[in-house]
Amino acid sequence: MPVIAVTNPKGGSGKSTITFNLGIFLKQLDYQVFMFDLDETSSLTDLVKTRPKTLPKLFVSHITFDDIGSNIKKLTDLSKDNVILMDLPARLTAEQLEIIVTYTDIIITPTLPSAIDARVLVQYIFSIMKVGSDRIDEIDLAMVANRAKFNTKSYKKLTNDLSLLHYPYLGGLRDTQNYVLSAAQGIGIAELPKRLTKKDIEHWKPILEWVENNLKSRLIDNP
Ligand SMILES: Nc1ncnc2c1ncn2[C@@H]1O[C@H](COP(=O)(O)OP(=O)(O)O)[C@@H](O)[C@H]1O
Ligand SMILES: [Mg+2]
Repeated sequence: MPVIAVTNPKGGSGKSTITFNLGIFLKQLDYQVFMFDLDETSSLTDLVKTRPKTLPKLFVSHITFDDIGSNIKKLTDLSKDNVILMDLPARLTAEQLEIIVTYTDIIITPTLPSAIDARVLVQYIFSIMKVGSDRIDEIDLAMVANRAKFNTKSYKKLTNDLSLLHYPYLGGLRDTQNYVLSAAQGIGIAELPKRLTKKDIEHWKPILEWVENNLKSRLIDNP
């Protein structure tokens, strides 16, 4: 069963927002999604709790790092077609990072579009590579910019810097109240009126395409 983690050592980079929205997009694409909230702040759990009952139900468990393995096993026993999506806290201990690398197949690292944040992200990716040295070839990792202002110099520089890394850079999600206002209602941007989100849906396309490609090959490899 494929396990996706959304992670970045900095708070406010958009982990919970992206996990929540990705979960809703995948659900719309007919994947059976289960979310794990590993963050003490329980942002993801709160987002799911505020969700209107009339919309498709999302499943989230607020769990600790020690419980990841047993929860994955429980869900795998139910169906190997389930997809697990994990929202992680900002700062991970070395031990927690090791647990993530042990259980995760697909990693998405969102970053704010600044030189400081890009540097933090690059260092973090190196530390993932170091911890996961014997599993790293099995993990697909990609980077996404969040709260992007596409016409700025700093965004262009970020695009250049991240394109030099060995991992794919999937582009940016723009800085928009769409994410803030939809989250306040417990809904995803995929559930807002289409006329408001045309650009956002375009930005999500390469991300969803990359995630789906990786999910499909894993679901086929593990019948
Ligand atoms: N693309 C975006 N545009 C505008 N606001 C955003 C965007 N992504 C996230 N936010 C807001 O930024 C804040 C931090 O996002 P959050 O997902 O909680 O980050 P993290 O989980 O990494 O700490 C939240 O208030 C969220 O609504
Ligand atoms: Mg969060």
